[in-house]
Amino acid sequence: MSCTILAIESSCDETSAAVISDGKILNNIVATQSVHEKYGGVVPELASRAHQQHLIPVVSEALSSAGVSKKDLSAVAFTRGPGLMGALLVGGSFSKAFAYALNIPLIDVNHMEAHVLAHFIEAPSPAFPFICLTVSGGHTQLVLVRSHLDMEVLGETLDDAVGEAFDKIAKILGLPYPGGPHLDRLAAKGDPGTFAFPLSDMKDLAFSFSGIKTAVLYFLRENSRKEPGFIAKNLEDICASVQHTLIKMLMKKLVKASRERGIREVAIAGGVSANSGLRRALNEAAQENNWRVYLPKLEYCTDNAAMVAMAAHYKFLEGKFCELDISPLAKMKI
Ligand code: KG4
Ligand code: ZN
Repeated sequence: MSCTILAIESSCDETSAAVISDGKILNNIVATQSVHEKYGGVVPELASRAHQQHLIPVVSEALSSAGVSKKDLSAVAFTRGPGLMGALLVGGSFSKAFAYALNIPLIDVNHMEAHVLAHFIEAPSPAFPFICLTVSGGHTQLVLVRSHLDMEVLGETLDDAVGEAFDKIAKILGLPYPGGPHLDRLAAKGDPGTFAFPLSDMKDLAFSFSGIKTAVLYFLRENSRKEPGFIAKNLEDICASVQHTLIKMLMKKLVKASRERGIREVAIAGGVSANSGLRRALNEAAQENNWRVYLPKLEYCTDNAAMVAMAAHYKFLEGKFCELDISPLAKMKI
């Protein structure tokens, strides 16, 4: 039986739709919300309104560019959570109405599982079991992936997500939002050994990223007081040193998880997996630890509906549908 699914992603500030047919992604349409830039962070109310505005044009484009009409669809899928409640409600309500009108099944998808399953969009895909470090603006998790739909969080951040640390530090440095990619670009031109920041060391496989943000803030205040123009003069070296520290904290726990579990199939996912320093560090660790590593294509690192479609495909194969009275969850566990 052939199966074609329309998938919707609206958990944060990207409105996205994708079509998947028999496990093959046909497209991945993403409308980025630029409205948040001037506020230096995502404004939830504005995100919901922008989703309202973009969703139907994005869906229409996804269907027409895939050459698929509504009557060809076997199911519709949406991100149930985690994410911003107002933003999730827009995608969720649309998907319910769509499923109801077309009388097709509805599939709810966990956004964090979808980030992991982005690895199945294109070959090579990791073999089970593998460990995935999922790093985004809202989460930092080490996930043991036993099968497409069987995942366990081995450790996660106790406070800020690493993407949040990138963005907040970038904001202190005066970079535009979201700051992660800007910090990455500047770091490439700096020397990571110039400044030392404290490495947090949490128990077991837990992370913490709030300390470094505060340490960088105090460090910059102190140095700017002593030397006006300190940030501008040292921007590239500061970015390189911060990025180096954040990556070191991530890699330490990833290596620990791999050793503890005896697993050498290792992947990264989520927005921060686009970071060039982290991608390099993963490749280096692969050499040292005899890992096989998997890095998503850049378009599948940050939020997108193709990954939601991939997750929906596996749920469809197992007949895992949801009822039309389902509600979104701002917090949702794997
Ligand atoms: O997965 P994602 O698109 O949204 C969430 O689910 O949160 O991740 C967004 C996060 C932001 O914090 C953004 O700054 C970060 O990913 N990010 C990066 C890079 N590209 C995106 N952080 C560091 N370096 C990058 N190249
Ligand atoms: Zn995400």
